[in-house]
Amino acid sequence: MSGYVLAIDQGTTSSRAIVFDDHFRIVGVGQKEFAQHFPRSGWVEHDPEDIWNSVVATIRSALADASLSATDIAAIGITNQRETVLVWDRATGTPIHNAIVWQDRRTTDICRALQADGAETLITDKTGLLIDPYFSGTKIAWTLDHVSGARERAEAGHLAFGTVDSFLLWRLTGGRVHATDTTNACRTQLFDISANAWDDELLRLLRVPRAILPEVRDCDADFGVTDGALFGAAIPIRGIAGDQHAATLGQACFKPGMVKSTYGTGCFAVLNTGTERVPSTSRLLTTVAYRLSGETTFALEGSIFVAGAAVQWLRDGLGLVAKAAETGSMASEADDEQDVVMVPAFTGLGAPWWDAEARGAIYGLTRKTGPNEFARAALEATCFQTADLLKAMRKDFTGARDTVLRVDGGMVASDWTMQRLADLLDAPVDRPVVLETTALGAAWIAGHAAGVWPDKDGFAAKWRLERQFEPRMGAVERGRRLTLWDNAVRRTLAA
Ligand code: G3P
Repeated sequence: MSGYVLAIDQGTTSSRAIVFDDHFRIVGVGQKEFAQHFPRSGWVEHDPEDIWNSVVATIRSALADASLSATDIAAIGITNQRETVLVWDRATGTPIHNAIVWQDRRTTDICRALQADGAETLITDKTGLLIDPYFSGTKIAWTLDHVSGARERAEAGHLAFGTVDSFLLWRLTGGRVHATDTTNACRTQLFDISANAWDDELLRLLRVPRAILPEVRDCDADFGVTDGALFGAAIPIRGIAGDQHAATLGQACFKPGMVKSTYGTGCFAVLNTGTERVPSTSRLLTTVAYRLSGETTFALEGSIFVAGAAVQWLRDGLGLVAKAAETGSMASEADDEQDVVMVPAFTGLGAPWWDAEARGAIYGLTRKTGPNEFARAALEATCFQTADLLKAMRKDFTGARDTVLRVDGGMVASDWTMQRLADLLDAPVDRPVVLETTALGAAWIAGHAAGVWPDKDGFAAKWRLERQFEPRMGAVERGRRLTLWDNAVRRTLAA
């Protein structure tokens, strides 16, 4: 069998398909951005047909780019934006509402009521998560309550819920498979991560009927085959993992204490804590890193909602830059005497603050402030937030004290940002040769499950460092800057 594996990476702002060969080299790529819909302040939606059409188109263009056909592909691995909710009609496959995206804050009131009822302990004990509109559970309930007749149809078994992986799987298999994987299930607030099962108590609490749920399988399970009519031949689907979990695998963070941080729309740092779940005392999430062949590996995760999105805002919202890549050199030219600090709470603040109602703010503006200082503030905000996460991880898990951060995602191409990150973390930052770690992780699961790619050790041995950034900033300046950030956040919190 060939060693070519195709990864579908369905992200928040674009869909990508990447074909890897058995040396983990990229041989074909397809990419398509799609529209973001903001129907009200704090609401974020995607048209499910945009998601689906962009995935089909990118698979076809990646195959064409690699000069391969479907019969050359040993397996497909799917990775995806997590927590985003889709509900569709089982008979027609038609969604009953737009996808409600992970960033969407419309269920803030439902979350506040759950908190007031004292539900957080139960939710955290079972799921490792906190109460926040970020997660899928309250979004499912909202959909069933706001689409006419949906709740009755859901209870009668006529509707299906899925995160994006599950929706794609349903469509790719021609409606034959309604399943998801553990890493996506564990972000719904409906899944007991110790029992590895949907939980009836949580389903009752969040008012979600069991009849709409997908079957949960391991990341490396058999997920069926694609409908032959789609790409010319059926392709086995042999892996699924949420994007941050796939990136953890793609960065070969297989050992407890290893951390990766991915800088996409948001930033998500994941610390492998091994086969025991570790509770957080610092408002990080306890989550499943991955589940392979019946064994769960747990993680602590810090989720930041806005990273690259702040740079996107400078480009598309303010028109300050023509290309995101310009911000690194602008930041390096910013005036050192101006302490401009941005708190990019455009969709609330995630870990460790968890304030759904906070909104973005910028401090320290003077008559001298210009585009360079804005660029530095946007990039540095991502570094400050990562510093908050690493501090919390070091507190929660002794194995993380001397850790090196493995980074990936679009923003890590900026040397300035990576140096500032190492400086503020006071820890080395490792940038690998392959930056497509999310797609690579999904491809590895599928390639290994299909028997054409090596095991964990063989894969980890091939991880290559491109550059290590060592901390250079003095302790006094680091402390001063971290205090500026801390003060800015405290002034921004809504409560
Ligand atoms: O939890 C949301 C996350 O999975 C989205 O990732 O890469 O689309 O920003 P990304």
